[in-house]
Amino acid sequence: MKVEALPAIKGNYNLQDYEETYKTFDWKETEKSFSWSETGKVNMAYEAIDRHAESFRKNKIALYYRNDSRKEKYTFKELKELTNKAGNVLKSYGDVEKGDRVFIFMPRSPEFYFAALGAIKLGAIVGPLFEAFMEGAVKDRLEDSEAKVLVTTPDLLYRVPVDQLPALKTIFIVGTDVEEDGKYVDFLKHLEDAPSSLDIEWVDRNDGLILHYTSGSTGKPKGVLHVHNAMIQHYQTAKWVLDLQEEDIYWCTADPGWVTGTSYGMFGPWLTGTSNVIIGGRFSPDAWYKTIEEFGVTVWYSAPTSFRMLMGAGDEVIKKYNLSTLRHILSVGEPLNPEVIRWGRKVFNHRIHDTWWMTETGAHLICNYPSMEIKPGSMGKPIPGVEAAIVDDQGNVLPPNRMGNLAIKRGWPSMMHTIWNNQAKYDSYFFPNGWYVSGDSAYMDEDGYFWFQGRVDDVIMTAGERVGPFEVESKLLEHPAVAEAGVIGKPDPVRGEIIKAFVALMDGYEESDELKEDIRQFVKKGFAAHAAPREIEFRDKLPKTRSGKIMRRVLKAWELDLPVGDLSTMED
Ligand code: PRX
Repeated sequence: MKVEALPAIKGNYNLQDYEETYKTFDWKETEKSFSWSETGKVNMAYEAIDRHAESFRKNKIALYYRNDSRKEKYTFKELKELTNKAGNVLKSYGDVEKGDRVFIFMPRSPEFYFAALGAIKLGAIVGPLFEAFMEGAVKDRLEDSEAKVLVTTPDLLYRVPVDQLPALKTIFIVGTDVEEDGKYVDFLKHLEDAPSSLDIEWVDRNDGLILHYTSGSTGKPKGVLHVHNAMIQHYQTAKWVLDLQEEDIYWCTADPGWVTGTSYGMFGPWLTGTSNVIIGGRFSPDAWYKTIEEFGVTVWYSAPTSFRMLMGAGDEVIKKYNLSTLRHILSVGEPLNPEVIRWGRKVFNHRIHDTWWMTETGAHLICNYPSMEIKPGSMGKPIPGVEAAIVDDQGNVLPPNRMGNLAIKRGWPSMMHTIWNNQAKYDSYFFPNGWYVSGDSAYMDEDGYFWFQGRVDDVIMTAGERVGPFEVESKLLEHPAVAEAGVIGKPDPVRGEIIKAFVALMDGYEESDELKEDIRQFVKKGFAAHAAPREIEFRDKLPKTRSGKIMRRVLKAWELDLPVGDLSTMED
């Protein structure tokens, strides 16, 4: 299927010579920006914070923070000291050493970043957890990673099944009046007293940095491990794609529980010495526009769902705010509709630039650059140093305008290092001839632009968040009334997709709206709010293969009124 392109508009910022750079670029050039390229001994936290604290940027604001009750700012020098202190606290009271998994489960706040970067300074692997996770989701991740240390808040502690996690030795509590008791340590009290200098652990470029759990179509979430070497690509793409310049005030709206919130909410901006705005609290159009006005945001990175919600709030609210500082807007996570790009042109007088990548890829791969003509609806072109193609199911490269698997030639710097405890899963991402298979279907047009078509598997993207149907189904099955459950993504004009569950009830249960709500709340409270089905439909029986696997494609066909296709594997 060919999507008709709208007229392109020329930009005028960075990466002017895309085609030329693409032909000649070598990652070795970027590596030379870092002193460690000679020695191989590196630490991300040093490069992101300390390096600037020891330079002309020492008194530059690194972090602006605001939520409903706090408003603070920190210079690079202050962040260096606070992350040193945090490192000392984690070491002294949690015995954190190189390679240990330190998980952080708390709302977006300066302390999140102190703890994360402090742990990285010790050579530990950081596992950020989205604050909306409930007990089941928290347990799966801490268990699989065998986390030794957790940093959390008093409010979230009840969702951590501490007794069921034998590897978890120390829990740092970020709050006031914390009762210390063996395992439980008052993070803020010790942060205040801790020394502000720290011996950084210099690690190998391929040592573990961060572990992001993400969902596939089967099984539990998998731990995608990224290593310090990824900084080469974080840094280069922060320049080429985010186009970060010395004077910029940058705001990434993603939570650090997801990869966008770390690669481009923490590493990318700080590696380039940029002032980074971090906002806690809830989404509202007023709060968001106010953020841009208040901090004078110049570069803004968000997601299609958010843009669609802002679009839905109408253009009147925009007129209340001065948004004239904005100069570059970007999007990630789901297809960016041409309609949203047209709206962005109208109300902000800027084109919104789509970027494509994944948790597994660690950083941008296919993007629209400020200097590039945009074909609305297209994700853009691969960054220099990255080879992308459309391949068939055997890994053969297809010609332009043919739909197939979006694949990337193995070997870009920020590629995941492994799947935690699951090398076989990691291996399954690659064709023997070296192509990494993304799980997305797409085509490339004759000008080399890539066009997203959908997921090959059943993974659901709802409001920019990736949800595995299997995890939701597993949770649904724990509800006493549920006999069978099948979960699909249902197209939604604002959220991209919403989660819809088909449920067959146990004998003795009656269908009712109350029961639907009860089941919904069960998933919300036991697993995660963003993964709770917005729609539930009762059916007497669900379509299954003879081996008992729920046939989600049949559910999808029911939902969308499409032909159900081949049913030869379905049970009677
Ligand atoms: O399906 C693609 C979609 O998000 C998936 C990756 O999800 P996640 O690992 O959670 O990372 C999201 C942010 C990096 C992809 O396989 N996706 C991501 N960006 C785009 C996209 N779909 C369409 N257009 C995009 N720009």
